[in-house]
Parts: sequence; C-alpha cells; structure tokens
Amino acid sequence: MSQRFYITTPIYYVNDKPHIGHTYTTVLADVIARHRRMMGAEVYFLTGTDEHGQKIEKTAAARGMTPKALADEVMPNFRKLWERMEITHDYFVRTTDAQHKAVIQERFKQLLGTGDIYKDTYTGLYSVSDEAYVTETQAKEMQDQGLAHQLVELKEESYFFRLSHYENWLIQLYEQYPEFVQPDFRLNEVKQFVAPGGERGNLEDLSISRTSISWGIPVPGDDKHVVYVWFDALLNYMSACREGFWPPSVQLVGKDILRFHAIYWPAFLMAMFREAGDDLDGPLPLRIREQLPHTILAHGWWLMGEDKMSKSKGNVVRPEELLRFGNDAARFFFMREMQVGLDRSFSFEGFMDRLNADLANGLGNLASRTLSMLQRYRRGVIPAAEVLDAQDQEVLAAGRAVGPAYLAKAGANDFHGALDLLWVHLRQLDGYIVKAEPWKLAKDETRKDKLDTVLCQLYRALRLTAVLVAPVMPDLAQQLWASLGLAGKVADQRFEAFQYEAPAPAPVAEPAPLFQRIDKEAVMQAETQTTEPAAAPAVQEEVPLDLPALKDEIAYDTFDLMDLRVGHVLTAERVPKSKKLIKMTVDVGFETRTILGGIGMAYEPEDLVNRQVVVVANLAPRPMMGSVSHGMLLCASDNNSKPYLVAPPDDAKPGFVVR
Ligand code: MSP
Repeated sequence: MSQRFYITTPIYYVNDKPHIGHTYTTVLADVIARHRRMMGAEVYFLTGTDEHGQKIEKTAAARGMTPKALADEVMPNFRKLWERMEITHDYFVRTTDAQHKAVIQERFKQLLGTGDIYKDTYTGLYSVSDEAYVTETQAKEMQDQGLAHQLVELKEESYFFRLSHYENWLIQLYEQYPEFVQPDFRLNEVKQFVAPGGERGNLEDLSISRTSISWGIPVPGDDKHVVYVWFDALLNYMSACREGFWPPSVQLVGKDILRFHAIYWPAFLMAMFREAGDDLDGPLPLRIREQLPHTILAHGWWLMGEDKMSKSKGNVVRPEELLRFGNDAARFFFMREMQVGLDRSFSFEGFMDRLNADLANGLGNLASRTLSMLQRYRRGVIPAAEVLDAQDQEVLAAGRAVGPAYLAKAGANDFHGALDLLWVHLRQLDGYIVKAEPWKLAKDETRKDKLDTVLCQLYRALRLTAVLVAPVMPDLAQQLWASLGLAGKVADQRFEAFQYEAPAPAPVAEPAPLFQRIDKEAVMQAETQTTEPAAAPAVQEEVPLDLPALKDEIAYDTFDLMDLRVGHVLTAERVPKSKKLIKMTVDVGFETRTILGGIGMAYEPEDLVNRQVVVVANLAPRPMMGSVSHGMLLCASDNNSKPYLVAPPDDAKPGFVVR
C-alpha cells in the first residue's frame, strides 16, 4: 500500500479577499502536495474558510448584511483564486457546513463528559483583534506594543478547556518529538510560551465559549453560548478529514497562528484520544502521539517594508498583480524567494528581477539554446554521451548529484534551498556551453563525439529540471517536458523511477520560449501612471497637501444650474481592461442610472454597493470605454490623493437634493 499523506492549510477568514500572504500559504501547501504525489504518496489535501466569529459578525454588520451572506459572498474569491492557481486540494471545508457543525458539537459533548470541559466565570482581559482572552503577561506585552486599545475587560460565564492538565504531555511532545514544530527555532518559541525558562505551571485553562457573540456554533444544550472560534476552526482538520488519512502529516500555518496550532490543537486532541487509565502526569503514550499531527510547519510573513502585510494596515499586494505574469511565475517566485520560517519583504521590482534572471534568462535561455542546437546540429535526435573528457565528467557528476540533493531539501519542505541548488547547476551548464563552444565543434567532424556528449548532457539536465520543478511550476514544466519530445504528463512521473541517464525516446520538438522576458521599464512606467501615490502607504507619512488654485468666482445662478442628488449604489463592477473605471447602477430616486467613475484605484466594487453617494444628476451623458455614463459622483481629493467619495448620511433618501 502506498504511503498516505494528509496536508492542510489554515482556513481563511471571510472578512477579507485573499492577498499574497494567504496565497503563499496555499501555494506552499500545493507544492508539497504535488511533490508528495510524485514521491508516490496517496495525498489528501484540505483547505477552506473560517466563517464564524466576531470579526465576520462585525464586518457583516458594517455592511448591513448577515454573516452567512457575507461568507457566501467572500468564500468564492478563495475558491476561484485556488482554481486559477491550479491548487490541487481534494476538499474545501467551510465551518458553516452542517457536517462540520455536527462534529464540533459531538466533540464538545465528549469533552464535557470526560471533564476536560467545565463551566465557570471568566473575569479578565480580552483582545478584540486576536479574539482571545489574554493573560496578564500578554496584556503587558500588548500595552508595550501600543496595542492597549485592543484590550477590553470582560466578566462572563464561560466553558473552559482544562489546558493546564496537558502541560506535562505537551512538554514531552516538544522534547521527544521535535519534528512536531518546524523549523526548529519556532519550536523554541512554543516551548518558551508553555514553560518559560523551563518553569512549569504556566498554562492556564482556556475559555472556549462566548455569550457576547451570536455568530457561531451553539454549545450543545446551552445555546446562549457559542463555541469559541478557535475550537470551532481547529477542528475543521478533523471534521473534513477523509477516512484513512488521520493524523495530519504536515499542517501549514503562519507564525501568527502557531500558538493555536502547537499548543491548543494538540491539547484538544490529547483530550479526545486519551483513555480512562491514562496518567496525565506520566509519560506521553506513543498511542497518543500517533494521533497528533506529525508536523506543524510555521512560515514567516510577507512584509511591506518592515510591516506585516495585512488588511488592517492597508498595505496588501493582491495575487492578481503577480498573476498577470502567469501562474507559474507567481508560484516560482513564492518558493524561490521565501525561506520557510523567515519573513521576507516584498517588492514588485524584485519580483520582476527574479523572473527575468531565473526564468527568462536562466532556465528559459538554457532550454532554447539546447533545443535549437539539437535541431540545428542533430535534427532533433538526442545523441548518446560516449566519450567524456574531464570537463564532461565534472558536469556528469554534478548532474547525477543534483537530483538527490534537490529531493532531500524538497522532502524537508525546503523548496527555497532546493531551487537554489538546481539553479546553481543550471548556471554551471551555461558555463559548460561557453567553454565547450558547440558552434565550433559543429564545424569540425573530428569533434563529433564531444558535441554529442555536450548536447546529451544538456538534454539530461533539462529533462531532470522538468521533473523536479513540476510541483512548483506545473505548466512550464509540462511545456518543457513536451518540447523535449517526452510523452505523457510530467506530473505522472515518479521521482523514484526517474533515471538521469535514461536514453531519450524521441526526437525533440521545435523550441518555443518557456518564459517571456518582462520589460521591467515599461511595467514600472505604466505603474507610475496608473497608481495614485497615496494608495495604501505602509506607514502614514506627513504628505504636504497639493491643493489646486481657487477657480474664478461664479454667480449664484451659475451654481444653481447644477442638479446634485443623493444616490444609492445598487451594483458595481470593474470595466474590463481599465484599472480605474468602475461601472455602477445608481438609484437616484426618480430612476436608476448607469454611472462610470474613475475610482477603481481607491475602491473595490464590493465596497461601493449599498453606499450613499452624491450624483451630479444633470450632467450631459458621456461615452467612456464602450459605455455611457449618465452623471458623475462627487469625490474629495487634492491634486495627488486618492478620491474620497462624498457621503450623505444614511437617512438621506435617494433623490434628495444636495445644496
Ligand atoms: N482563520 C484563521 C486560521 C484558522 S486555522 C484553524 C486565520 N485566518 S487568516 O485568514 O487571517 O490567515 C490565514 C493564514 O494566512 C495564516 O496562516 C496567516 O499566517 C497567513 N497570512 C496572513 N498574512 C500573512 C502575510 N503577510 N504573510 C504570510 N502569511 C500571512 O488566521
């Protein structure tokens, strides 16, 4: 029976559309999943959305909709993006699924029965942003970081999980099975949290229900409480697991949610899997360890400058901005640039530089040179390497070593390191071509063997590269594979069965460029023309106002010619091929209008729907990008800043006159 491999991503909150932080986690999981399949494992890959809790409740209330309606609206953004990025998950779980809800309630009851959950009163501090009660030490840390405003005092009846009882087993888990948290320096952080300085007795019981929130799964038999969002969310890995795949092999998390996954999650599982005779103060039974995730893999953050990229900071990069250069490009960049565990600052220029250097030049160039030489000198038929001089031997030895070295790193989830050493080899091959000068060899019949050897070795290296990078760049790898004259799908290859020196089966095809070089200058120029400078600054800087000069005086009657009305935006969508234009239908009281506004750099269409706006209602219709705009929306800005929509109060009805 083949080995089974169960991999998960965190489930994403539906109060935001995906940004590249979320995208990175999912792509890393997908690359690992694809890699394991090519290692011959039977993989179950789970992702989904986290749809309960205060954040969702609040966002929905602010938008005047029910939390479920918000979840139904936002969730498809994730699904569609994963489809576009060729994510190969087997299942997409939603915490609002009935099946998930049933599992939560059943497990809650189980732990009530064993006494691992009990009812008490909580008095203390609560962090609104983390949706978690905080200890005094944590509260102090938050105050020091200037986050005191996120703390509120609470006194409420609550159900508690006896986390304190599991401290002994947790510490043994970290000590005896250090692979439980990777990379290892992240394990140290967890240990420090559970037993700072090796000192015991720090873990307090965890409140796992809320009466202050209504959007959640009711506690069975006591429905003024809803189950705490993390008890609900973490158990998705259980409720949506496929039979025969338990326990999880690798669970991906960002460092911000490591504590929940490396402390609470195994403690919940210990409580669920322990048996009556088990001694919580004794050794951690192997039987229990075998029911826990094998590894929680914690990655770092994508930063903008020094700051975490996040919606609340308004400094996010959306995946679409990378996907314009292709899915493979975005996936490759994530894997190549980010060392799992560490933070990395994002720059768009760095992104383009990396692609040009590694894909357009690097691999792309090597592939097109090799393929065209094979066409030109050998009519596409791959020669054998029979006579090898010292230089050829060196390349052969490196070529034989690079596959196993790559697989060792990738098998340890280090794709950054793996790609790095593969690209070192590709550069070595560039040097090999330069030194061997095949164009001269081709003119000398007596050097035929040497030319055969050079071409054969280049061919082998490309074939190996196609197989190794298939999990990272599925389409580019397939294109390379096919252009090498190889049949079938590269993703169906098994690393184990791959033979570096296998004979080439068929003549190679005509070369087509693997990756189009990006004209960086042109892209940067287009960006500066279309991006308004004030768009989402990472740090709020004092920007001097750039106010236009006052216009000439007009008579009152001239002003009175303008008919300004309150409007209510009913629908909004982007105008294809335009970064700025949004097409809206607006209720202006006496009729519904189509109005186009150049506000797409400052607002998302979904931010506009249901808003009250001020409409210049008697403006002559203006054709714009294939549609006609019947009026204009009033916005405030200086010469530089983004437009801010002028907003009448909500109780001003559509059609009201603005004076
Ligand atoms: N819903 C919880 C997870 C529950 S799992 C049982 C959650 N959701 S989230 O949408 O806020 O974040 C999901 C993942 O995205 C986390 O792993 C988080 O670390 C990751 N990222 C969010 N911003 C990020 C960056 N800027 N960089 C990299 N990843 C980050 O937390």
